[in-house]
Amino acid sequence: MDKALADLIKISNTTGKDPALVLGGGGNTSVKTADGAHMYIKASGTALKDMDATLGWRRLRIDSVLSILKDKAIAKLDAFKRETEVVNRLLLSCDDEVDTGARPSVESHLHAMLDTHVIHLHPLVVAAYVSAKNGRKVLEKQMAAEGLVPLWVPYTDPGYMLAKRFARLVAEYEAEHGKKPGILFLEKHGLFVTASSANAAIRRVRQVIRLCQEGLKDLPAGRMKLASAESVAGAKLAIRNAMFQTTGEYLPVSYYPDSEIVASFMGRKDAKQLLTTPALNPDELVYANGSAMWLDTAKAKPLARKLQSLVERNQKLPAAFVVKGLGMFVAAEKRLAGLIAEITETSLKVRMYAARMGGVLALTAREQNFINTWESEAFRKKLVSGGEAGELTNRIAVVTGAASGLGKSIAIGLARAGAMVALMDIDEKAATETARQIAEIRPGSQTMVVPCNVTSEGSVQKAFEAVLAHWGGLDILVNAAGLAPPFALVDMPVDKWRMALEVNLTGYFLMARETARILIEQGIGGSIINLSSKSGLEASKNNTAYNATKSGELHMARGWALELGAQGVRVNCVAPGNVFEGSKIWNPDYIKVCAKKNKIKPEEVIPFYVNKTALKREIKGQDIADAVVFLCSDKARTVTGQVLVADSGQVWTR
Ligand SMILES: NC(=O)c1ccc[n+]([C@@H]2O[C@H](COP(=O)([O-])OP(=O)(O)OC[C@H]3O[C@@H](n4cnc5c(N)ncnc54)[C@H](O)[C@@H]3O)[C@@H](O)[C@H]2O)c1
Ligand SMILES: [Zn+2]
Repeated sequence: MDKALADLIKISNTTGKDPALVLGGGGNTSVKTADGAHMYIKASGTALKDMDATLGWRRLRIDSVLSILKDKAIAKLDAFKRETEVVNRLLLSCDDEVDTGARPSVESHLHAMLDTHVIHLHPLVVAAYVSAKNGRKVLEKQMAAEGLVPLWVPYTDPGYMLAKRFARLVAEYEAEHGKKPGILFLEKHGLFVTASSANAAIRRVRQVIRLCQEGLKDLPAGRMKLASAESVAGAKLAIRNAMFQTTGEYLPVSYYPDSEIVASFMGRKDAKQLLTTPALNPDELVYANGSAMWLDTAKAKPLARKLQSLVERNQKLPAAFVVKGLGMFVAAEKRLAGLIAEITETSLKVRMYAARMGGVLALTAREQNFINTWESEAFRKKLVSGGEAGELTNRIAVVTGAASGLGKSIAIGLARAGAMVALMDIDEKAATETARQIAEIRPGSQTMVVPCNVTSEGSVQKAFEAVLAHWGGLDILVNAAGLAPPFALVDMPVDKWRMALEVNLTGYFLMARETARILIEQGIGGSIINLSSKSGLEASKNNTAYNATKSGELHMARGWALELGAQGVRVNCVAPGNVFEGSKIWNPDYIKVCAKKNKIKPEEVIPFYVNKTALKREIKGQDIADAVVFLCSDKARTVTGQVLVADSGQVWTR
């Protein structure tokens, strides 16, 4: 292996594995070859610690990289065409056998101008200075005490403009000091360190971190008071409501309970004021939409008004909220929430340090605007290249009976439509299998398995607590856990009768009651579906308890539709015909009963029933799922208190 590549892997892995260095996120590294013609540099998409002989780097021709900055044609382009062209030209400067399409770091130019070994990081302890008004003064004094003369690079729009300015400043430094700068601080950005060997570069990084650390006195310790589950759930629902009112988007809300940093921050008198300054750096702007918002209390209406006024001023809505006395909340898709929480925590800490050094130095409106426009361009491209959005994107749904049969099909259908689905059932193992299948059918979808006995009040309450703790809201309930004890009236044991009433009526009621309570508090409407049956409309033989309960489910739904309509909650039923696929109701014993009832052989039962339908078409789980998705979607916005019969044409409602 080329010595330069071996060195690159060494400095990348060493810095990437040290939390003190990478805390605060990001960074890249490079090493130039002995002949000075090439440079190995970290590629985007792989973490520093994961780089190895085959992964996470590209090799660039240095003259080609530097020629981009000298190209007059590029200089004349408007900002966004120019940045795209620079990225393309960097890819063209690659001279290696890597075929993954991984892109060399967009900061490649900066690396090309420095000494052979370059480490660039955004550590928290450095951010404390480069994001503070007097940070430069304090830092230069501290460095001077150890004989170090760092180069300070004032904030410049990232990409081409930064590269140009960087080149000028490095040349000036070299003219003045007779050598290239070894340490560079980039305002509102981070640290560059450069040296002529791997060990020297790592030593220098550690020295800078130590000096920065020494200059920062500890922040007052904070301890989080344990907030009640109720107040946390209430805050989540309020935030979700306000985000929906302002954007029409359904977002999950996550809570981060034990953070010393957040606790310390909340204990300050100037906490609110420290969060009035916008994003500290491009990362905070791009990932967290700017600084977190401070809330004295989490109430939906005033928060919605606040967010609306941001929209009117053309500002991005924050993704993170710090609620006095409670802590940090993040309104974002789950896969992004962790990163946003980390960036926000870092930012809170940096803001507290910056307060001691003349105050927070944040991005100006113009600087933010540059990043926003650039980002939205990139985002637009991503959308064009096929961002998947379903009719129920990010709706939070609960499905009972999700371990088997129709509940399972419906859970899959809702997930296909983009919803996040809580799979509730007494059969946890089989529900976990549903989750596995959904992950296969729609990669990236969100599910949670929640063991729940729908007949137990306590179990139902606990199940909803789990959903709120995980996603912070609720939009859809599908009651599907049901039983069909097949007995002739004269043979029906009373315990089977009672059991069916418990699951099919009490279970539907308990689930709907809990759902209604949450939907009313959340205040953005919702949809409840009772999965009934054609037997709920037209009685069938040997089905006493089933007829009674399935009919009862329809009528309960009508009453709920009346009660909840004013809150924007729609309640409807789906009445499937016979669905054999995957159902435990249609078990061999039940099939035998049906065969006997109709004087046919068991294997003739399915064709016999299919033949009774107008469409002569077997009903599948997906057919019922589609009916449920329709009723839950905005396309059914004026439909409530109704029953949608999905039976291939057997029972006619009028
Ligand atoms: N399959 C059909 O032909 C058909 C037709 C019309 C309506 N339906 C309705 O669809 C629903 C599901 O029927 P299926 O055929 O898919 O049945 P199924 O037996 O295959 O699935 C029912 C699921 O409910 C779960 N369950 C039972 N008791 C529970 C409890 N107390 N708490 C939580 N979960 C419980 C079971 O573990 C099972 O996973 C029922 O409400 C049924 O009335 C089915
Ligand atoms: Zn950077």
